[in-house]
Amino acid sequence: MMKEKTFVFHNGVEIPHIGFGTWQIPNEEAYDAVTMALKNGYTHIDTALAYHNEENVGKAIKDFDISRENIFLTSKLPAQIKGYDETLKAFEETLTNLGMDYLDLYLIHAPWPWDEKGKDCTAENIQTWKAMEKLYHEGKIRAIGVSNFSESDIQALIDACEVVPMANQIPFYIGRDQENLLNYCKKHKIVVEAYSPLATGEILNSSAIKEMAQKYHVTPAQLCIRYCLERETLPLPKSTHEERIIENSQLDFHISDEDMEKLNAIEDVRNK
Ligand code: A2P
Repeated sequence: MMKEKTFVFHNGVEIPHIGFGTWQIPNEEAYDAVTMALKNGYTHIDTALAYHNEENVGKAIKDFDISRENIFLTSKLPAQIKGYDETLKAFEETLTNLGMDYLDLYLIHAPWPWDEKGKDCTAENIQTWKAMEKLYHEGKIRAIGVSNFSESDIQALIDACEVVPMANQIPFYIGRDQENLLNYCKKHKIVVEAYSPLATGEILNSSAIKEMAQKYHVTPAQLCIRYCLERETLPLPKSTHEERIIENSQLDFHISDEDMEKLNAIEDVRNK
């Protein structure tokens, strides 16, 4: 069983330091995957309306012998849904799918619809954020945040709204360390969550990573996930295999500063 460590949002809410990611887990597999994660000590589960698996993620949590307050549950507003009323409606849909009466964290999935990547949706994001603030103030969500947001996307919300986002969930793995965004988030006390900490599996064959993992007597996946923690980001590894789900949570080791420098210098596997 993993030891419970947490990151703390700027409103004092604590979030377990590793989350179980469910992106790319189909609804029919989500029940078993989430049950395996809970069985092996994960208490933080990350889903999204766009993953089409909320129903079985929620069912697995409710069927498991754990009280709701001991679970940290995140979901996300689909990237293409923007606007005040639209956000309130989509949030209700998420709660209904999950069969829950509140969320621990709710994120705007992206600053733009996925098929219009890069489009300036500042005005729409501000209206969306105001709806998120309302839900937060009503106690329906314990913390609110964003995902895939750049420094300027976040700054627009800070300038126009009341609540500074508590989290930004971004792709983060060895080779893609997003230094400037990390520093910006740190300055505003925004917790950075690392999705795809294994670059969806693509970095696990890197010889440099394999070699260093051997040195620490851990697997390449464990080295990659530990790397996120060493960079003060919160990893969200995903797997549908129990032995990997267990492996991905056993991270009780430290990477030396010297080795972190070596890992920081690795080129993004996806740019090669
Ligand atoms: P699977 O679900 O079949 O176990 P990311 O978390 O970066 O999105 O990566 C997820 C991918 O990495 C999935 O394809 C997953 O496969 C694979 N994966 C997850 N954990 C491990 C592990 N410990 N060893 C090898 N592959 C893993």
